[in-house]
Amino acid sequence: MTTKADPTSAALEHLTADEPAAIARLIEWLRIPSISTDPAYKAEVAKAGDWAAEQLTAAGFEVRVVPTGDPAGSGHPVVLASTPGADDYTGPHVLFYGHYDVQPVDPVDLWAADPFDPQHKPAETGGGAGERLVARGAADDKGQVAMFLEAVRAWKQTSGQTAGGVKMTVLLEGEEESGSVNLERFVAQHADELRQCDVCLISDTGMLGRGRPAITYGVRGLAYTEVTLHGPSHDLHSGQWGGKIPNPINELTKILARLWDENRRVTIPGFYDGVRDLTKEERQNWKNLNIDDAAALKGIGFPPEASVGEAGFTMTEREWARPTAEINGIFGGYTGKGAKTVIPSSATAKVSFRLVDDQDDAKIRDAFFAWLQGQTPPGCKWTLVDHGGGAPVTCAIDSPALTAARKAVEQACKVAPAMIKTGGSIPVAGLLKTELGIETIFMGYGLEDDRVHSPNEKFELDCFRMGARSHAALIGLLRAGEAG
Ligand code: BES
Ligand code: MN
Ligand code: MN
Repeated sequence: MTTKADPTSAALEHLTADEPAAIARLIEWLRIPSISTDPAYKAEVAKAGDWAAEQLTAAGFEVRVVPTGDPAGSGHPVVLASTPGADDYTGPHVLFYGHYDVQPVDPVDLWAADPFDPQHKPAETGGGAGERLVARGAADDKGQVAMFLEAVRAWKQTSGQTAGGVKMTVLLEGEEESGSVNLERFVAQHADELRQCDVCLISDTGMLGRGRPAITYGVRGLAYTEVTLHGPSHDLHSGQWGGKIPNPINELTKILARLWDENRRVTIPGFYDGVRDLTKEERQNWKNLNIDDAAALKGIGFPPEASVGEAGFTMTEREWARPTAEINGIFGGYTGKGAKTVIPSSATAKVSFRLVDDQDDAKIRDAFFAWLQGQTPPGCKWTLVDHGGGAPVTCAIDSPALTAARKAVEQACKVAPAMIKTGGSIPVAGLLKTELGIETIFMGYGLEDDRVHSPNEKFELDCFRMGARSHAALIGLLRAGEAG
């Protein structure tokens, strides 16, 4: 279409010209309620996967929609695509990973509009949110995958080549938000094919702030559990039985309260084994990022003194480099309206741990379960459930591919990316590293106030634009042999 000499400029110009259509495409995708954790949405999840498959097909990829699960098809499909040909290409074979499933929408009353009726909103005045799309999945992760889809579309349109001639494999998962239960088996079954890839590229993380693009060089791991303490054989009258036998809620909350000491360090024996010390250099680098903790706290309705956590570390250090234990939910007994005097027969808590290098999620889970068993109240017993997790990952920051990614961001955004970590987890990265030895580059464009997993999730168009341009620029650098 364009006759510009420089192919990257042509692709970037195409992105600019085609932006209204790109937004319309993303809105179409966001309309599909692909909630992976809720079986009622199984067909919708499949539809969202098919939608992405069609986009990749249009961009020239060879696409397969692969069923997962045991029994076969019980899981959500993986969209697996690859560039045909690319025979002259000598650079790294890139594996692009993203997820097309989304989190549930509840509490749905707190949404200003239907979560699956995307709202295109103008920028707020006075330094508020920018022009944006509000919908479930807007930032996590459809909007970010769409940046990549638009970049490969632009390269196909302007150069005629799929992904501009760069050798690529695309893996879009439909179960990331529900624990990636079938991913390990999928990776094992496709190990030979995936092993062809040299580096993984993921857009599912955030920037440092508005206009401050970043490359994330580490994600935390996760171990997620559900623990139930069983007491009496049935619910009891608290007047007849209170003070005579263990009340499972009293006991469970007492035990869980011992998870932290007075310095807010986790008390499970061995919990900190293998945790890497922060280097002086890293601490200084992070300090130099000038992250405004007070502003972040204000954004969630907290004063500055609400910054509480493990003693001896800044807020950023606690998020990026320290492990934590969190109770994500707790229930039992009477939770209905009014009062009911009852001693419950059981109490349950959802307890998860964010992990850092070199903690092992399976070991942490086992240590937690053993710690609970060691404090079982007389006559009680536990049901201990593993809800999965993932390994922490820190990436090499000097690889040729990462250097190319940094350069691409700078070309596309006119500002060099900050090097950051994140407190979130992306299980596939650990899997690729341990199973196949593949490193990941996280090039994400979310903002801290995108409300991911919350009501009124949004993705700002400035972020979308920067992300699409960065992916297009990266393709330009890779095809020009910039990453070896
Ligand atoms: N995209 C997020 C991870 C993330 C969140 C990265 C915030 C950077 C900033 C991802 O979709 C996610 O929600 N991951 C889960 C993993 C879990 C379901 C195994 C998480 O971090 O809780
Ligand atoms: Mn995500
Ligand atoms: Mn998520």
